[in-house]
Parts: sequence; structure tokens; C-alpha cells
Amino acid sequence: MRTPWIVPSVLNADPGRLYDEVARLDAAGVDAIQWDVMDGHFVPNLTFGPEFIKASRAATSVPFEAHLMIEVPERWIDQYIDAGCETVIVHPEASIHLHRTLQEIRRMGAKAGVALNPHTPLEAIRHVLGSIDHLLVMTVNPGFGGQAYIAEMEPKIAEARDMIDATGRDIPLEVDGGIAPSTIGRAGAAGADTFVVGSALFRDPGGIAACVAECRARLAEAMEADASIRAIAGGT
Ligand code: DX5
Repeated sequence: MRTPWIVPSVLNADPGRLYDEVARLDAAGVDAIQWDVMDGHFVPNLTFGPEFIKASRAATSVPFEAHLMIEVPERWIDQYIDAGCETVIVHPEASIHLHRTLQEIRRMGAKAGVALNPHTPLEAIRHVLGSIDHLLVMTVNPGFGGQAYIAEMEPKIAEARDMIDATGRDIPLEVDGGIAPSTIGRAGAAGADTFVVGSALFRDPGGIAACVAECRARLAEAMEADASIRAIAGGT
């Protein structure tokens, strides 16, 4: 299993101080940072153009992910890569020629990621898994931070886990939406290894670093408990 990654979503940060907020996340020891890019069409919200990301690139050396919740993402991929994003994540619900788009992201030197809305089955990407470097299972309907975690997604996370394991490739399995110390354990036990955390981090009275540490601890606890259950079940 990959070392679990905690990946804050900047959507819930103070919009007037993005550079400082990114520096704060860096100081809290996060593994990467996700920028939620929204166009007001694919999702009912409007967020970050490439310039916002570029302006915060120097605040940290951790990898940036651009999660493109936009229609016709192909039009913008190069600009988000230029802005400093190592991974570009698109939605098959918005990308008509997904296979070509994934090839394009790779050709431009970035990692090609796919995010699935809650209703979209894994079958939608099974035949292009060879072109995918990063798989994200949404655990909320995209568009806003602070929504409740959809536990119904856990069987899909487990199916994605099996799908990735069957390839033998090192593909991060990310979950996004409603992830917090109270939910990260069950998402991890279902098979996720990369966790986008938004409002839980920025709203924690103990601060970002404390919330990151608690997320890691709760995940480790859950994985240990899960391992012993599997061991008992497996009679080992
Ligand atoms: C929602 C975004 C998420 C969101 C996460 O569309 O993709 O990244 O910001 O925020 P929380 O953790 O508050 O659900």
C-alpha cells in the first residue's frame, strides 16, 4: 500500500491570503495541495484561474494538483501545467474524448488524473486505465466545501482499489469531499490512500497542523483495526 497522503483543498482557505495559506499548509507538513478549479457551468461555483495558482507556486515545494471541474477542460490544461501543477485531474463527465485528453496531459509532462462524480460508475474509465496516473473518487457532489461525506461511495472505492491493484501500477486512489478525522478511517479501510481535506483543516480549533496529525492518527488506527479484522477473517 502507498504511504497515505494528506492533500488539502485550498477552496476553504482565506481567499484574500492564498499565498500565506499555502505557506501555512506547507508548514503543517501536508503531502500535496489540490486546487479546485470551477467554471460555474460544470459545477455551480466559480474559483481559481491559472494565475491564482501561479502566484502561490513559490510558497511551497509540495506537488500541486489541478482538479478541473470545468466544461471542455482540454482548453485549459496547458495553462494549469504552466502554473505549476504536476497533476491535472479531469472529469469524464466533462471530457468527450477522455482518452485523447489523458494522452495530451501526459504529452505536456504532467500526470493524468480522472475524477468520478458520485453517480459515475468505474466502468466509464476501465478501458482507459492504462492512460490514468491518478484516480479520484468523489465522496461529495462537486461544487462546494463543507458537505457531508457520502458513505455509499465506499463499495466504489473498494472496486477502484481492486481495479488498480490488478494493474500492478502505482496509481494513487484519492477521495475528495467530507474527509475529516471522523471519516478518513472508513475511506482508508475501503481502499483509498490519498485524502483531500478541505473545511475540516481550516475550521479545526486546534489549527491545521493538529488536524493533519489527527487525520493521520485516525487513519493509522482504522488501517490497523481493518488489518486485524482481515487477519481474523482470513484465519491467519
Ligand atoms: C468539492 C471539492 C472538494 C472540497 C473539499 O467540489 O472538490 O475538494 O473543497 O472540501 P471538504 O473537505 O470541506 O468537503
